[in-house]
Amino acid sequence: MERTFAIIKPDAFAAGNAGKILTRIYAEGFNVVGIKKLYMSKVEAEGFYYVHKERPFFGELTDFMSSGPCIVLTLEAEGAILKWRDLMGATNPAEAAEGTMRKEFGTSIGENATHGSDAPETAAFEIPYFFSGLELL
Ligand code: RTP
Ligand code: MG
Repeated sequence: MERTFAIIKPDAFAAGNAGKILTRIYAEGFNVVGIKKLYMSKVEAEGFYYVHKERPFFGELTDFMSSGPCIVLTLEAEGAILKWRDLMGATNPAEAAEGTMRKEFGTSIGENATHGSDAPETAAFEIPYFFSGLELL
């Protein structure tokens, strides 16, 4: 079994779509190992997305991620990282496949409803960034 880190981003949470996204997560067979609502600060968002700090959209991205509450998740499944990336769809909702979370709930490339780890090393950084061992029992 593999673990991945996911976020129901502030746009999807504010729009009341968290329940529908969680329903899909369960329906696709993920085990929800960790789950909590939090309201990220700008500094916390910058630390989380530090790999993008030189990118032109870094300011916009971290403003958005700290603009309202979100739900952070640790998900477990066989091949969880790719499985969740597939369910999320392409970064740009306009290019995301039918039935994916970003197609259904995203509104723009910036406000795209969900986040998912893109590799095992990323998951290994992202899960403990938000969850302690005790929160993952
Ligand atoms: P994520 O990390 O959130 O799961 O998204 P991703 O891997 O599909 O895309 P990534 O390249 O890691 O970009 C991280 C987030 O930055 C925002 N973004 N904005 N304005 C833009 O051109 C732009 N490009 C990316 C998106 O919110 C993207 O999810
Ligand atoms: Mg990414």
